Amino acid sequence: METTKKQNGSTADGDLKSPITTTPIPTNFVEVERYAITEPFAYVVIAKDPESGGYAYMVDELKLNEEEIQIYNTLLKTLQMELKVPRSDVDSKAYFEASARNIVDKYRIAMGRMANIAWSKILYYIDRDMVGFGALNAFMSDPAIEDVSLDGLNRPLYVFHSKYESMPTNLIFTKEEDLDDLIVRLVHISGKHVSTAFPLVDATLPGRHRLMATYRKEVTPFGSTLTIRKFRTDPVTIVDMLKFGTLNTELAAYLWYMMESRLTTIVVGATAAGKTTLLNALASMLRPGIKIVTIEEVQEMNIAVDNWVPMISRPSYGLSSERIGEVSLFDLVKASLRMRPEVLIVGEVRGEEAYVLFQAVSTGHGGLCTIHAEDVRSAIKRLTSKPMDVAPSYIPFLDLALVSRRVLLPGSDRMRFGRRIIAAEEVVDVDTQVRVFEWNNAKDNFVSNLHESVKIKKLAEFRATTPEAIIDEIHRREVVLKWLVQRNLRHQVELQKVFTDYYYKPQETGALAAQELGVGEGRSKAPSPQTAVSAR
Ligand SMILES: Nc1ncnc2c1ncn2[C@@H]1O[C@H](COP(=O)(O)OP(=O)(O)O)[C@@H](O)[C@H]1O
Ligand SMILES: [Mg+2]
Repeated sequence: METTKKQNGSTADGDLKSPITTTPIPTNFVEVERYAITEPFAYVVIAKDPESGGYAYMVDELKLNEEEIQIYNTLLKTLQMELKVPRSDVDSKAYFEASARNIVDKYRIAMGRMANIAWSKILYYIDRDMVGFGALNAFMSDPAIEDVSLDGLNRPLYVFHSKYESMPTNLIFTKEEDLDDLIVRLVHISGKHVSTAFPLVDATLPGRHRLMATYRKEVTPFGSTLTIRKFRTDPVTIVDMLKFGTLNTELAAYLWYMMESRLTTIVVGATAAGKTTLLNALASMLRPGIKIVTIEEVQEMNIAVDNWVPMISRPSYGLSSERIGEVSLFDLVKASLRMRPEVLIVGEVRGEEAYVLFQAVSTGHGGLCTIHAEDVRSAIKRLTSKPMDVAPSYIPFLDLALVSRRVLLPGSDRMRFGRRIIAAEEVVDVDTQVRVFEWNNAKDNFVSNLHESVKIKKLAEFRATTPEAIIDEIHRREVVLKWLVQRNLRHQVELQKVFTDYYYKPQETGALAAQELGVGEGRSKAPSPQTAVSAR
């Protein structure tokens, strides 16, 4: 149909612009899976390239013909002129859709003589390019995509798919100006600025997706780049993690008990190991009603509780190294202590904020955070070195360290990866940690060692009960978790209700779960010594 030149941006004849779209799927590619993104306009085809053997992520999007491209251009211009900027309290997408319809209706009457114009298809593109993410819209609309990355001109966009992992796509920018336009637009809708003078941007897109962009060849020799880490509106919960096999019900029950007891916990792992996701799931198991303050650079935490103050740091407005108006994580952690949080959550510790967090924890606040490190030992080493500089004598205030990792799963012919909590360790001091759970990489299961737990022993002493009674309580909670998995009660709000019910009525809730699950045991046992309350 059109030439590639026409498909990819402006053409010689005046200002006529085609929407940027994906290239056709090579005919020798073998379709593995197909699903709809925006019916009937955009579909995803997972295809196998017979030559390389690799998988590719292809978007099959209906294309506009010449006549439709002309109307698309006229409409785009008309809309840009006629649309007023909506009031800030108005949902811009809904506003756009209503106003665009009116303008299109007017225009359509004027164009009445033209038959067979697919107005809905044109509107799909207008919507995509004016209020959506433009050529990235299909990728951004697929919940299976975790992140997208565009490494420069003439290179395919890459996506990370939750089932098929990293794959090239059929979106390629061949013109500098098209790529630059997209980046400028995305940065603008994030309320930020990008230019050759400020070629690096870290911004939050609508929908809380995190954008990292570089502009032109200032810092990236292949031209502008962008990476988007997508935000999930429906967060991964502990029940999802159980279904994925990230952990087992016993480990989850142990963590639930420990979170309710406000144990200070650190999640350790590499980039994209699932640290923030686990942190969020842990936060959802804290005692109901407890006051939580979260501190992050970009808001990723998403918990279904009311007594929660999310705080976000702000970079400097100053040029070069001058720091004007900056509010750092360090400033926020200090300030947050005056809000009397019962649990302070720092998204990721990197610098001096770790030091303040540990001071807070040492004075009785609960604390949760993540840290970039391979294992618990290197995490502790990082914590106690510059710039974090936590005194080694403060390390015992850390109770639990959980190591999250993307691992190769055993027993499949195709390489299959998954995220696993490969170890749960109780911290005694800088040199001593007790491993209470461990992932077995040959069998893909978890081995527990609860009788060695030092934290259970400590909690038992504090509550004048025995470690065995607490282990029994953990096993009763395991029944509740199994029941949640079986009933597929996975949604954050549903889980919050069950956790709250269990907190106030452990016997009844446990009995209901046991009964519905068909295990008698949960009912006959004595009630929990007491539901976990703070040890401090
Ligand atoms: N246990 C898990 N199972 C499946 N997907 C996960 C899991 N944990 C995280 N993810 C996905 O992996 C991506 C990276 O997770 P994130 O928690 O942000 O990693 P990190 O904080 O370690 O960089 C996200 O898209 C998230 O939805
Ligand atoms: Mg993270």
